Amino acid sequence: MPVKISTRNVFKKFGAVEALRGVSIDVHEGEVHAICGDNGAGKSTLIKILAGVEQPDSGEILIGGAPCRFDSPNASLRAGLATIHQDLAIAPQMTIYQNIFMGAEITRNVLGLRLLDKRRMRQDALSYMSQLNGSITDMNAKVESLSGGQRQAVAICRALRWNANVVILDEPTAALGVRETEQVLDLVKSLKANGKTVILISHAMKDVAAVADRVSILRNGENQIDLVGGDLTADNLAHYILSGEEKRVH
Ligand SMILES: Nc1ncnc2c1ncn2[C@@H]1O[C@H](COP(=O)(O)OP(=O)(O)O)[C@@H](O)[C@H]1O
Ligand SMILES: [Mg+2]
Repeated sequence: MPVKISTRNVFKKFGAVEALRGVSIDVHEGEVHAICGDNGAGKSTLIKILAGVEQPDSGEILIGGAPCRFDSPNASLRAGLATIHQDLAIAPQMTIYQNIFMGAEITRNVLGLRLLDKRRMRQDALSYMSQLNGSITDMNAKVESLSGGQRQAVAICRALRWNANVVILDEPTAALGVRETEQVLDLVKSLKANGKTVILISHAMKDVAAVADRVSILRNGENQIDLVGGDLTADNLAHYILSGEEKRVH
Protein backbone atom coordinates (compact mmCIF):
# COMPACT_ATOMS: atom_id res chain seq x y z
CA MET A 1 0.00 0.00 0.00
CA PRO A 2 1.29 3.51 -0.78
CA VAL A 3 2.26 5.94 1.96
CA LYS A 4 -0.73 8.06 2.85
CA ILE A 5 0.53 10.38 5.57
CA SER A 6 4.09 11.24 6.49
CA THR A 7 5.65 13.54 8.98
CA ARG A 8 9.19 14.66 8.21
CA ASN A 9 11.50 15.82 10.96
CA VAL A 10 8.78 17.50 13.01
CA PHE A 11 9.90 19.67 15.91
CA LYS A 12 7.63 21.20 18.54
CA LYS A 13 8.54 23.11 21.68
CA PHE A 14 6.26 24.26 24.48
CA GLY A 15 8.29 26.98 26.16
CA ALA A 16 11.51 25.23 27.15
CA VAL A 17 10.05 21.72 26.74
CA GLU A 18 11.02 20.01 23.50
CA ALA A 19 7.98 17.77 23.00
CA LEU A 20 9.03 16.62 19.51
CA ARG A 21 12.63 16.58 18.32
CA GLY A 22 12.53 15.52 14.69
CA VAL A 23 9.78 12.90 14.43
CA SER A 24 9.26 11.18 11.07
CA ILE A 25 6.56 8.60 10.50
CA ASP A 26 5.08 6.96 7.40
CA VAL A 27 1.48 5.83 7.68
CA HIS A 28 0.48 3.49 4.86
CA GLU A 29 -2.93 3.60 3.22
CA GLY A 30 -5.45 1.13 4.63
CA GLU A 31 -3.26 0.15 7.56
CA VAL A 32 -3.67 0.44 11.31
CA HIS A 33 -0.59 2.40 12.43
CA ALA A 34 -0.01 2.55 16.17
CA ILE A 35 2.01 5.23 17.95
CA CYS A 36 3.45 3.95 21.22
CA GLY A 37 5.87 5.13 23.86
CA ASP A 38 6.05 6.02 27.52
CA ASN A 39 4.24 8.99 29.09
CA GLY A 40 5.71 12.23 27.81
CA ALA A 41 7.14 10.60 24.67
CA GLY A 42 5.30 13.10 22.44
CA LYS A 43 2.43 10.93 21.14
CA SER A 44 -0.38 13.40 21.83
CA THR A 45 1.66 16.31 20.52
CA LEU A 46 2.23 14.48 17.23
CA ILE A 47 -1.50 13.74 17.00
CA LYS A 48 -2.43 17.35 17.78
CA ILE A 49 -0.20 18.44 14.90
CA LEU A 50 -1.91 16.00 12.53
CA ALA A 51 -5.29 17.19 13.85
CA GLY A 52 -4.49 20.87 13.26
CA VAL A 53 -4.74 21.67 16.97
CA GLU A 54 -1.02 22.57 17.18
CA GLN A 55 1.40 23.67 14.46
CA PRO A 56 4.94 22.33 14.17
CA ASP A 57 7.88 24.70 14.75
CA SER A 58 9.62 23.05 11.81
CA GLY A 59 9.30 19.94 9.70
CA GLU A 60 6.58 18.85 7.32
CA ILE A 61 3.35 16.90 7.00
CA LEU A 62 2.88 15.18 3.64
CA ILE A 63 -0.45 13.77 2.47
CA GLY A 64 -0.02 11.47 -0.51
CA GLY A 65 3.42 13.05 -0.99
CA ALA A 66 2.14 16.66 -1.04
CA PRO A 67 3.21 19.04 1.73
CA CYS A 68 0.24 20.26 3.84
CA ARG A 69 -0.22 22.71 6.63
CA PHE A 70 -3.14 22.34 9.01
CA ASP A 71 -3.77 25.75 10.54
CA SER A 72 -6.96 24.58 12.24
CA PRO A 73 -8.83 21.39 13.10
CA ASN A 74 -11.07 22.15 10.12
CA ALA A 75 -8.14 22.11 7.73
CA SER A 76 -7.19 18.64 8.95
CA LEU A 77 -10.80 17.47 8.60
CA ARG A 78 -11.00 18.84 5.07
CA ALA A 79 -7.90 16.83 4.18
CA GLY A 80 -9.79 13.69 5.27
CA LEU A 81 -8.36 13.24 8.77
CA ALA A 82 -10.79 12.94 11.69
CA THR A 83 -9.36 12.83 15.20
CA ILE A 84 -11.17 11.33 18.15
CA HIS A 85 -9.61 12.86 21.22
CA GLN A 86 -9.57 11.06 24.51
CA ASP A 87 -12.48 13.03 25.98
CA LEU A 88 -14.60 12.12 22.88
CA ALA A 89 -16.36 15.52 22.98
CA ILE A 90 -19.80 13.94 22.94
CA ALA A 91 -22.95 15.26 24.59
CA PRO A 92 -24.36 12.54 26.87
CA GLN A 93 -27.87 14.04 27.10
CA MET A 94 -28.26 14.16 23.35
CA THR A 95 -29.27 11.24 21.15
CA ILE A 96 -26.93 9.12 19.07
CA TYR A 97 -27.96 10.71 15.80
CA GLN A 98 -27.75 14.25 17.23
CA ASN A 99 -24.20 13.54 18.38
CA ILE A 100 -23.19 12.13 15.02
CA PHE A 101 -24.51 15.16 13.12
CA MET A 102 -23.56 17.80 15.67
CA GLY A 103 -22.30 20.86 13.81
CA ALA A 104 -23.12 19.31 10.44
CA GLU A 105 -26.87 18.77 10.54
CA ILE A 106 -28.81 17.72 7.47
CA THR A 107 -31.65 20.08 6.62
CA ARG A 108 -34.48 20.12 4.12
CA ASN A 109 -36.51 22.92 2.63
CA VAL A 110 -40.20 23.07 3.42
CA LEU A 111 -42.03 26.01 1.83
CA GLY A 112 -38.86 28.06 2.00
CA LEU A 113 -38.03 27.10 5.58
CA ARG A 114 -34.91 25.15 6.45
CA LEU A 115 -35.88 22.36 8.81
CA LEU A 116 -33.78 19.64 10.36
CA ASP A 117 -34.17 16.43 8.39
CA LYS A 118 -34.31 14.15 11.44
CA ARG A 119 -35.55 11.15 9.52
CA ARG A 120 -32.67 11.31 7.06
CA MET A 121 -30.15 11.87 9.88
CA ARG A 122 -31.50 8.85 11.78
CA GLN A 123 -31.29 6.73 8.63
CA ASP A 124 -27.76 7.84 7.81
CA ALA A 125 -26.68 7.44 11.43
CA LEU A 126 -27.95 3.87 11.38
CA SER A 127 -26.03 3.13 8.21
CA TYR A 128 -22.77 4.48 9.68
CA MET A 129 -23.39 2.59 12.90
CA SER A 130 -24.12 -0.67 11.10
CA GLN A 131 -20.62 -0.50 9.58
CA LEU A 132 -19.23 -0.58 13.11
CA ASN A 133 -21.63 -2.20 15.53
CA GLY A 134 -24.77 -3.94 14.30
CA SER A 135 -26.21 -4.26 17.80
CA ILE A 136 -26.86 -0.52 18.23
CA THR A 137 -30.06 0.16 16.31
CA ASP A 138 -31.98 2.91 18.14
CA MET A 139 -30.54 6.20 16.92
CA ASN A 140 -32.91 8.05 19.30
CA ALA A 141 -31.21 6.52 22.33
CA LYS A 142 -29.39 9.01 24.52
CA VAL A 143 -25.63 8.61 24.58
CA GLU A 144 -25.68 8.57 28.40
CA SER A 145 -27.39 5.16 28.21
CA LEU A 146 -24.43 3.69 26.27
CA SER A 147 -21.33 1.88 27.50
CA GLY A 148 -17.86 3.36 27.03
CA GLY A 149 -17.16 1.16 24.01
CA GLN A 150 -20.48 2.14 22.42
CA ARG A 151 -19.68 5.82 22.97
CA GLN A 152 -16.46 5.33 21.03
CA ALA A 153 -18.60 3.95 18.22
CA VAL A 154 -20.70 7.14 18.23
CA ALA A 155 -17.57 9.30 18.13
CA ILE A 156 -16.22 7.24 15.22
CA CYS A 157 -19.53 7.55 13.34
CA ARG A 158 -19.10 11.29 13.53
CA ALA A 159 -15.76 10.86 11.75
CA LEU A 160 -17.50 8.77 9.07
CA ARG A 161 -20.12 11.50 8.72
CA TRP A 162 -17.31 13.90 7.77
CA ASN A 163 -16.19 11.40 5.11
CA ALA A 164 -12.85 11.02 6.81
CA ASN A 165 -10.65 8.38 5.24
CA VAL A 166 -8.14 8.57 8.07
CA VAL A 167 -9.39 8.06 11.62
CA ILE A 168 -7.07 9.00 14.49
CA LEU A 169 -7.84 7.57 17.94
CA ASP A 170 -5.99 8.91 21.00
CA GLU A 171 -5.94 6.27 23.77
CA PRO A 172 -9.43 4.89 22.99
CA THR A 173 -9.22 2.07 25.50
CA ALA A 174 -7.49 3.90 28.37
CA ALA A 175 -10.61 4.10 30.55
CA LEU A 176 -12.24 0.83 29.51
CA GLY A 177 -12.54 -2.65 30.98
CA VAL A 178 -11.56 -5.85 29.19
CA ARG A 179 -14.87 -6.43 27.41
CA GLU A 180 -15.23 -2.86 26.26
CA THR A 181 -11.64 -2.82 25.08
CA GLU A 182 -12.49 -5.82 22.89
CA GLN A 183 -15.38 -3.84 21.43
CA VAL A 184 -13.15 -0.90 20.59
CA LEU A 185 -10.58 -3.20 18.96
CA ASP A 186 -13.44 -4.59 16.88
CA LEU A 187 -14.31 -1.01 15.85
CA VAL A 188 -10.74 -0.50 14.69
CA LYS A 189 -10.92 -3.73 12.68
CA SER A 190 -14.23 -2.63 11.14
CA LEU A 191 -12.75 0.70 10.10
CA LYS A 192 -9.88 -1.09 8.40
CA ALA A 193 -12.28 -3.54 6.72
CA ASN A 194 -14.13 -0.50 5.36
CA GLY A 195 -10.93 0.77 3.76
CA LYS A 196 -10.07 3.43 6.32
CA THR A 197 -6.56 4.21 7.49
CA VAL A 198 -6.33 4.24 11.28
CA ILE A 199 -3.77 5.91 13.54
CA LEU A 200 -4.06 4.46 17.02
CA ILE A 201 -2.35 5.88 20.06
CA SER A 202 -2.15 3.40 22.87
CA HIS A 203 0.12 2.13 25.53
CA ALA A 204 -1.80 -1.12 25.87
CA MET A 205 0.72 -3.36 24.16
CA LYS A 206 -1.58 -6.34 23.83
CA ASP A 207 -4.16 -4.18 22.05
CA VAL A 208 -1.56 -2.77 19.71
CA ALA A 209 -0.19 -6.20 18.88
CA ALA A 210 -3.76 -7.42 18.23
CA VAL A 211 -4.77 -4.79 15.67
CA ALA A 212 -1.78 -2.82 14.35
CA ASP A 213 -0.02 -3.47 11.04
CA ARG A 214 2.83 -1.16 11.94
CA VAL A 215 3.95 0.72 15.01
CA SER A 216 6.19 3.69 15.61
CA ILE A 217 7.63 3.89 19.11
CA LEU A 218 8.52 7.39 20.29
CA ARG A 219 10.90 8.17 23.12
CA ASN A 220 11.67 11.64 24.50
CA GLY A 221 10.23 13.30 21.40
CA GLU A 222 12.23 11.20 18.94
CA ASN A 223 11.67 8.09 16.86
CA GLN A 224 12.95 5.09 18.75
CA ILE A 225 12.05 2.21 16.44
CA ASP A 226 9.33 1.06 14.01
CA LEU A 227 8.02 -2.49 14.19
CA VAL A 228 6.13 -4.35 11.48
CA GLY A 229 5.16 -7.91 10.57
CA GLY A 230 6.51 -10.69 12.76
CA ASP A 231 8.48 -8.19 14.88
CA LEU A 232 5.27 -6.52 16.02
CA THR A 233 4.52 -8.54 19.15
CA ALA A 234 3.43 -7.47 22.63
CA ASP A 235 6.72 -8.83 24.02
CA ASN A 236 8.80 -6.83 21.57
CA LEU A 237 6.80 -3.67 22.24
CA ALA A 238 7.30 -4.05 25.98
CA HIS A 239 10.97 -4.78 25.48
CA TYR A 240 11.68 -1.69 23.41
CA ILE A 241 9.51 0.69 25.43
CA LEU A 242 10.99 -0.45 28.74
CA SER A 243 14.61 -0.81 27.64
CA GLY A 244 14.80 2.27 25.44
CA GLU A 245 16.98 0.22 23.10
CA GLU A 246 17.21 1.62 19.61
CA LYS A 247 17.27 -0.01 16.26
CA ARG A 248 20.81 -0.94 15.41
CA VAL A 249 22.05 0.35 12.12
CA HIS A 250 23.83 -2.49 10.39
N1 LIG B 1 0.71 22.48 26.14
C1 LIG B 1 1.86 22.07 26.70
N2 LIG B 1 2.61 22.92 27.44
C2 LIG B 1 3.78 22.52 27.99
N3 LIG B 1 4.30 21.28 27.86
C3 LIG B 1 3.59 20.40 27.14
C4 LIG B 1 2.34 20.74 26.52
N4 LIG B 1 1.88 19.63 25.85
C5 LIG B 1 2.79 18.67 26.07
N5 LIG B 1 3.81 19.12 26.82
C6 LIG B 1 5.01 18.34 27.22
O1 LIG B 1 5.54 17.75 26.07
C7 LIG B 1 6.00 16.44 26.32
C8 LIG B 1 5.25 15.44 25.43
O2 LIG B 1 3.89 15.40 25.85
P1 LIG B 1 2.79 14.52 25.12
O3 LIG B 1 2.85 14.78 23.67
O4 LIG B 1 1.49 14.80 25.81
O5 LIG B 1 3.28 13.04 25.43
P2 LIG B 1 2.49 11.65 25.46
O6 LIG B 1 1.16 11.85 24.80
O7 LIG B 1 3.38 10.69 24.74
O8 LIG B 1 2.36 11.27 26.91
C9 LIG B 1 5.79 16.21 27.80
O9 LIG B 1 6.99 16.54 28.47
C10 LIG B 1 4.70 17.20 28.14
O10 LIG B 1 4.76 17.57 29.50
MG1 LIG C 1 -0.84 11.56 25.47
